Amino acid sequence: MKLSNNSIKYHLNKYKFYHKIKVNDNIHTKGNEGLIKFQKIPLKILKKYNLKNKKVLDIGCRDGLFSFEAEKLGAKEVLGIDNDLSLGATKFLIPFFKSKVKMKKMNLYDLSNYKKKYDMIIFFGVLYHLRYPFWALKIIKDILNTNGTLLLETAIYILGDKKIPLLYCPFDNNNPYDKTSCTFYNEIGLIQTLSSLGFKVKNISYSVAPRNFLKRIFLKKPYPIRRATFECVIDKKKNKYLSDYWDKYHINHTKKNIFKK
Ligand SMILES: C[S@@+](CC[C@H](N)C(=O)[O-])C[C@H]1O[C@@H](n2cnc3c(N)ncnc32)[C@H](O)[C@@H]1O
Repeated sequence: MKLSNNSIKYHLNKYKFYHKIKVNDNIHTKGNEGLIKFQKIPLKILKKYNLKNKKVLDIGCRDGLFSFEAEKLGAKEVLGIDNDLSLGATKFLIPFFKSKVKMKKMNLYDLSNYKKKYDMIIFFGVLYHLRYPFWALKIIKDILNTNGTLLLETAIYILGDKKIPLLYCPFDNNNPYDKTSCTFYNEIGLIQTLSSLGFKVKNISYSVAPRNFLKRIFLKKPYPIRRATFECVIDKKKNKYLSDYWDKYHINHTKKNIFKK
């Protein structure tokens, strides 16, 4: 599509954008500027990976900032899913960029029993919105190739004893975000959850300091949340005892040596 800048702006103005995406040297989508500081680290981490000939799934892709980046990094196939599909991306950005990125309106839970596997799954800014986080991570594990990578960015609960694995699950006025955000693991809680589902966490990178960081220190009212990106691979040492117990059938209660692994 060869369009003048005025015509591009006219088309972009029809849509609401969340991501600020470069359209050409003069024009960006009117995404939320306040989020850019949180997108820097996940974007930098994604760019470390050689995605040549890889199949990539971007869960909760919104306007496709990370999907388009995966395509630039050489991915042979990129599917973005979101349960609120971005019309700005599907109706304007994808055809304008002549991009091969595909986007589909889909809830991630509908990926359960999906036959296809992916080499890289991008899962940014979604986990803390989920009511069934363990189930979602299990579904993701099942559609990741054995040698694949999961990049998971989320909001981490940072208060309390860091050695105790926790899931903070507010659904009232104490929510640090909005009411759709109901799942905040602490770091060790997310590491152990991932590990129990068959992932190995290779690296964790925290984003910028939380909102009003200095003011909160002064008021002695620490902000409970920070953003972090977890780079995960599949742990090939499968714990069959646990996966059978949780997901399939087992005989541990009928055997004499109960719970002996
Ligand atoms: C906070 S935005 C993050 C967008 C993008 N991944 C990023 O990091 O900039 C969360 C996105 O996930 C989508 N989402 C939330 N729950 C979902 C679900 N269960 N299945 C698919 N998409 C979901 C929302 O519609 C929204 O577009």
